[in-house]
Amino acid sequence: MQPSVALHHRTIRLGSRVVLDDVTFAVAPGALVALCGPNGAGKTTLLRALAGLLPGCARPDPRHVAYVPQGAHAAWGLTVAQVVALGRIPHADAAAAPVERAMETCGIAALRDARIDRISGGQARRAMLARAFATEADVLLLDEPTADLDPAAAHDVMCLLRRTAEDGRAVVAVSHAIDLAIGYAHRVVVLAGGRILADVAPDQALDAAAAAFGMRVGIDPAPRLLPY
Ligand SMILES: Nc1ncnc2c1ncn2[C@@H]1O[C@H](COP(=O)(O)OP(=O)(O)OP(=O)(O)O)[C@@H](O)[C@H]1O
Ligand SMILES: [Mg+2]
Repeated sequence: MQPSVALHHRTIRLGSRVVLDDVTFAVAPGALVALCGPNGAGKTTLLRALAGLLPGCARPDPRHVAYVPQGAHAAWGLTVAQVVALGRIPHADAAAAPVERAMETCGIAALRDARIDRISGGQARRAMLARAFATEADVLLLDEPTADLDPAAAHDVMCLLRRTAEDGRAVVAVSHAIDLAIGYAHRVVVLAGGRILADVAPDQALDAAAAAFGMRVGIDPAPRLLPY
């Protein structure tokens, strides 16, 4: 099967810096890929390249590829439902059903009439995710979709992303929560210094992540919150 979005030996320079260095990356339908790595590693740049938002990168059809940026906070005086409906713009229709479904799926239907600039950070994050779901795109490129979310909500969203992938879509999610990445993704890609350090099954990701972060792998017997 052809990958839905891909880069083949791409090097990306921003200003005078090489930000992605000979990167080959692809995600196919059915997979949730977690993209991990230190601050400044190039994760956002990789998503922007896949979304066709950087010079020289092919721009995919926005009906097929939805992108949610890292700092996607809206300060507009729009309701949650209006923001989610923006996801229908590429389709040039006003179909209500995908918007309703997306709000239900992302757990924000009760907030439909709330103004986007008057809800919490975590609620706004879910609204932005719902906007991407409303596009019904085959490929979701999500930059830190669990940032701002409480621990239970973060598990909930990762579970949703895995289900979404297993329903036949391709999902790439940047995450600093390595436990969530390992727990939910089908594949973990570790970036460091603009290069792909590892592209591995989740059970092999911890060593690569430790190397990228300059940390060690250990067993912590302290109690912690786990999903039911
Ligand atoms: N427009 C730009 N011009 C020049 N350099 C840039 C530009 N955007 C990003 N960079 C640099 O590229 C590198 C990678 O940035 P990127 O935003 O992709 O990192 P990241 O892995 O997403 O980090 P974070 O975890 O902090 O979000 C950084 O060193 C950053 O300073
Ligand atoms: Mg980033």
